[in-house]
Amino acid sequence: MNSRVIAIDGPAGSGKSTTARRVAEGLGYVYIDTGAMYRAVALAVLEHKLEPTQETLDKFLPQLTIRLAVGPAGQQTYLNETNVSTAIRTPEVTALVSRIAALPNVRQYLVEMQRRMAGEGGIVMDGRDIGTNVFPDAAVKIFMIASPEQRARRRWQEMRAGGIDASYEEILTQIQERDRQDSERATDPLRKAADAHVIDTSDLNIEQQSAKVLEIVRALDG
Ligand code: DC
Repeated sequence: MNSRVIAIDGPAGSGKSTTARRVAEGLGYVYIDTGAMYRAVALAVLEHKLEPTQETLDKFLPQLTIRLAVGPAGQQTYLNETNVSTAIRTPEVTALVSRIAALPNVRQYLVEMQRRMAGEGGIVMDGRDIGTNVFPDAAVKIFMIASPEQRARRRWQEMRAGGIDASYEEILTQIQERDRQDSERATDPLRKAADAHVIDTSDLNIEQQSAKVLEIVRALDG
């Protein structure tokens, strides 16, 4: 068992990243957002106007440097040494990334990187296949769920709070489409590991979600 790894998986908008960041802070672990790595590849594909196919990516991936740095402002994502932490969150990247994440060679490349990032200290890693594929021997596996309507509502509220006037229906449709692409792909689809703890976040706030995960981690230590 890999006692230094906490794996948090779940669909888009289930509250994974905020919870994972809080849990990492609480434990003094490093938080790693693997979705940012798939987003960085999607951004590079858009910037270079490439076809999102395995053949193209086979040639292109070795030319990319993706680096995650942990700093006071949280995780920063670098693509070829440019900070792309904001650029990877645009609607264009979000619309493309599930297609990129379905390509087996992209997954293999990033999964190897993720395994190397485990390093010496403890990590909390979030994604879709961390407990099933990246670290199947993780000490603690969490699978976070919430209804698509609840997840869309949260996203919509976040966007409104940020001054973006988005349509709830459109966000819900996008979430349902990403769920479908992420869970129906052939390589390492989104699914719960047999030994994962399921946390339904529909009626929980961030404090309550983080407390639940920490409770599971501490029960293991005790
Ligand atoms: O969590 P996110 O929305 O930033 O993830 C972006 C995309 O990457 C999403 O389509 C799922 C995919 N992804 C994945 O396939 N495997 C991971 N470990 C992390 C993300």
